[in-house]
Amino acid sequence: MDASTTQAGDAAFWARARRHMLSFGGHFVPFVAARAEGAFVYDRTGRRVLDFTSGQMSAILGHSHPEIVATIASAAASLDHLFSSMLSAPVVDLAEALARLVPPLPQVMLLSTGGEANEAAIKIAKLVTGGWEVVGFAQSWHGMTGGAAAATYKAGRRGYGPAAAGSFAIPAPNAFRPRFANLSWKAELDDAFDLLDRQSTGNLAAFIAEPILSSGGIIELPQGYLAALKQKCAERGMLLILDEAQTALGRTGTMFAFERDGVTPDILVLSKTLGAGLPLSAVMTSEAIGEECARRGFLFYTTHVNDPLPAAVGLKVLEIVERDRLPERAATMGAQLKKGLAELQSRHACIGDIRGRGLLLGLEFIDEVEGKKRSAAVLSDTVTDHALSLGLSANIVRAGASGGVMRIAPPLTVTQAEIDLGLELLNEAMDNVLKN
Ligand SMILES: Cc1ncc(COP(=O)(O)O)c(C=O)c1O
Repeated sequence: MDASTTQAGDAAFWARARRHMLSFGGHFVPFVAARAEGAFVYDRTGRRVLDFTSGQMSAILGHSHPEIVATIASAAASLDHLFSSMLSAPVVDLAEALARLVPPLPQVMLLSTGGEANEAAIKIAKLVTGGWEVVGFAQSWHGMTGGAAAATYKAGRRGYGPAAAGSFAIPAPNAFRPRFANLSWKAELDDAFDLLDRQSTGNLAAFIAEPILSSGGIIELPQGYLAALKQKCAERGMLLILDEAQTALGRTGTMFAFERDGVTPDILVLSKTLGAGLPLSAVMTSEAIGEECARRGFLFYTTHVNDPLPAAVGLKVLEIVERDRLPERAATMGAQLKKGLAELQSRHACIGDIRGRGLLLGLEFIDEVEGKKRSAAVLSDTVTDHALSLGLSANIVRAGASGGVMRIAPPLTVTQAEIDLGLELLNEAMDNVLKN
């Protein structure tokens, strides 16, 4: 295929896309994916892009993992979708496998997306506590459906009328950009709950939190924070919901991010990484909460609840993650990537911070110091665009006040050579942008 044919094809593609694709979240990336394999996505000319976002932070096994391909084919041919009240072996097997990993939370419901699963978790919390006030972080992202969106403060609150009554936010602790100098995270948490208590009508149901706020700009909760948060919840009869959409299944160097803190939530929500790119999510809770759900007639009846095909995929994902020791791999590869990013930072004053755990890393830009030419937001956008043109896809947190944070989350199966390539391309992108 010669270049002119390709360009003509692309122009026609984008014309059709403009005509038919509803805008839902900013611009589409100027790259048309034709296939994906391992850590790379290819366009139809064979041009490849290194996928350092694992698709939408989900493809932890890379793309088209042969065992996942085989599992999908076999499930599609034997047991795909069922009447919602009809159980099957893959569903109970996956529930059991998840419960084995988190013994205090043996009651499991399988759904499709993260927003949907958070919706279910919030409803469970409301039903079993009898409360209806839900608290989240002011930099959170929990999904686009009603209850999940009401607990999402990072973006998307304007233009849709009132969020759920009883929605509250407290600031997430931010070590790099503290809100107040010399105030510990503990003091900030005490102060936030003091304010919350003044506003609450006494009907607090839940706090929903990401252990590392990803869309918020890779903001890591400091060691000890989750335990303190759980204590605050317990004191008020609220449940702690942990949303591990991006952090579970080894991404941060442990199977679940909460393991570092030794704090088990009342409800654990898994999504994105559980299906490794396929729509699969899970809500996990304790026997006591499960019993209370049954007693109070918890209703969350959906078309794809406990569907066998995605469950078979989830089961295979768990098997691979454990068998191939991917949490350890994320820790090792993440350390290598973080070291490379730290070297990049030492050469460029406009990189203010490198943070994150395992293979969920953030690179935060600050305003260009010498000459003060560009703002962090402009810099990060430009570097991201340049990186893509060079063959590296890394995602940028654009909205909000955090300036520009590049989120870097390669598949957990990424090789050393691919990490090196990613760093090389990022270096080149930085050099290109900063010389102008
Ligand atoms: C932490 C977290 N929770 C929930 C969601 C929503 O998941 P979904 O888009 O699958 O509904 C996201 C999506 O980015 C997320 O990052």
